[in-house]
Amino acid sequence: MRRLHLTTGGESHGPGLTAILTGLPAGMRVDFDLLARDLARRQHGFGRGRRMQIEKDTAEVRGGVRGGETLGSPLVLWIQNRDYVSWEKIMGPEATDPHLVETRRLKSPRPGHTDLAGGIKYQRHDLRDILERASARETTARVAAGAFARMLLAEFGIEIKSGVRSLGPIGADAPVPTWEDLLQVDETSPLRAIDRGLEPEMVRLVEQAKEEGDTLGGAVTVIAHGVPPGLGSHVQWDEKLDGRLAQAILSIHAVKAVEIGAGVTASQGFGSAAHDAIERTEDGRWVRPTNRAGGLEGGVTNGEDVVITAYKKPIATLRKGLPSVDLDTLEARTSQYERSDVTALPAAGVIAEAMVALVLADALLEKLGGDSMREIRSHWEATAAQQRAWPG
Ligand SMILES: Cc1cc2nc3c(=O)[nH]c(=O)nc-3n(C[C@H](O)[C@H](O)[C@H](O)COP(=O)(O)O)c2cc1C
Repeated sequence: MRRLHLTTGGESHGPGLTAILTGLPAGMRVDFDLLARDLARRQHGFGRGRRMQIEKDTAEVRGGVRGGETLGSPLVLWIQNRDYVSWEKIMGPEATDPHLVETRRLKSPRPGHTDLAGGIKYQRHDLRDILERASARETTARVAAGAFARMLLAEFGIEIKSGVRSLGPIGADAPVPTWEDLLQVDETSPLRAIDRGLEPEMVRLVEQAKEEGDTLGGAVTVIAHGVPPGLGSHVQWDEKLDGRLAQAILSIHAVKAVEIGAGVTASQGFGSAAHDAIERTEDGRWVRPTNRAGGLEGGVTNGEDVVITAYKKPIATLRKGLPSVDLDTLEARTSQYERSDVTALPAAGVIAEAMVALVLADALLEKLGGDSMREIRSHWEATAAQQRAWPG
């Protein structure tokens, strides 16, 4: 990111998580309800493990905000891990209990996790030293910081939503959803499915996977609505917004593929069916009757909804285990089981919303500049007026 920068810290069973977000302007009203709501949304979803029942995530603001307004200084957020009380003697930064540490030692790496590669890289013999930071618990800090990006975008009428498009094979050939489809997603439904008709079948598949000690992945679509034209740039490879969004989405744990708009189906057909016609209305608006490009052409937003689908692999911790090796005996041994989700797709959608919000807020600030909301608003109005007048 260019203007905004997010750093997170903390281990999954350590004392808690920290997020530091720099680059927010001064004078932005903080919506504490939105912050709490997004953290709760990340914890929701059928197929999650017991950890989500233990944690009730709340973010404490420890810097960058005064009297409900940002100061332009680094935003500092702290999220306590409730589970830490049971892990203090194992994960504490000072004295730990060697016997307890040994009982929770991870010594047969789980395929699909960072355990093996991280153990080799950081030369750790207890692979918990890798697992604890590689865990998707870290995304709690991202969602908390992303809520502030969402607050900034909301000031300019930009909204972001998501939903589960497919789970395992169910819904795998569903069409790319529209903003109107995402408006129908029921946040309280078990899987936040876009097609509610598919949800009972999806729930049954999760139950089956759970019974069999197996796991599931799938796809979530995120849409940003109300995005103005001109965010990102075609002029340099690392300024292209599609690339910046893809990096942010692929950084989410277990996401293995990203699609912009109808990128996958477009690649399978003719060009005449892959692009979006350009039309001009009588009142001087540029419109596109379709949005196969997902709101991005040449790495620049074109004023249509930004549409991104993230494809998540099945969770790598299987109760029935996968073939691995014991680090002590160097003999074949089934991978160890750690308390785990069967699927985390509904949460992945909320995390993807946070990442899209952070990248779009970054691009918006990059385009508009300014240290205070007052400055940014006047730049926004000037830019909008110039865009309306173009090409005159
Ligand atoms: C919200 C969320 C929850 C997750 N929960 C688990 C889990 O309970 N067990 C697990 O093995 N992996 C879980 N994962 C996936 C792993 O964190 C991820 O596969 C692992 O860190 C390896 O990274 P990679 O898959 O991106 O290569 C979760 C991912 C997300 C986004």
